[in-house]
Amino acid sequence: MNDKQLVALEAAKFVKNGMLVGLGTGSTANYFIDELARLQRENGLSITTVASSTISAQRAQSLGLPIVALEHIASIDLYVDGADEIAPDMTLLKGRGSDLVKEKLLAKAATQFIAVADESKLVNRIGQNFVIPIEVIPFAWQLTKKSLEDAGGVGHLRPNAAKDGFWITSHGSYVLDLTFDADFSANALNELINNTPGVVEHGIFYGLTDAILIAANGKVEARWA
Ligand code: A5P
Repeated sequence: MNDKQLVALEAAKFVKNGMLVGLGTGSTANYFIDELARLQRENGLSITTVASSTISAQRAQSLGLPIVALEHIASIDLYVDGADEIAPDMTLLKGRGSDLVKEKLLAKAATQFIAVADESKLVNRIGQNFVIPIEVIPFAWQLTKKSLEDAGGVGHLRPNAAKDGFWITSHGSYVLDLTFDADFSANALNELINNTPGVVEHGIFYGLTDAILIAANGKVEARWA
């Protein structure tokens, strides 16, 4: 069993009968979805799920997990998702793909949000290994880019895979991939980007995590907020 699978199985121990459980997106979240399906099949676990992406919804559906749409819920019991970076203060960087809007809504809506990752995701500061993905309203991209550049951001509008157009997220946004000076704290960056007109949502998950489960060399360490 690899570390991603190990940590996903550990997170599944927090799932109890009757819960409404948010499903994250990515390879670690996939192991969590698979484990929920196994527990339902073999142990009679009875839960409802809500997915942060079409790909996770499809996986849950194909495994027979009951699933409800995001627009039909106002809160959830537990959200489990991976991350691209995890800072010492438990701030996360997420949304390398296309699904950070739903991911952040579920993280916020959850009574408990548990982030799961292997130790490769641990960083000293947010933005250390990845650019910060910032979803913007398509018609606002230039104005928003200029505002963020004036505040110290450097980067570009993300191209699509064929490089003949721009990346469009599952929410229908463009993505600005920006880097900022290491002097910015996660808190300051979160505030700055939140307060920039044209921004739909961004990948810094500040103050949302209740627990982090990190797997390294076959062992899981839990950190609580
Ligand atoms: C998805 O949009 C991201 O926020 C993921 O949580 C992240 O990319 C983690 O992926 P892995 O679990 O595959 O490392």
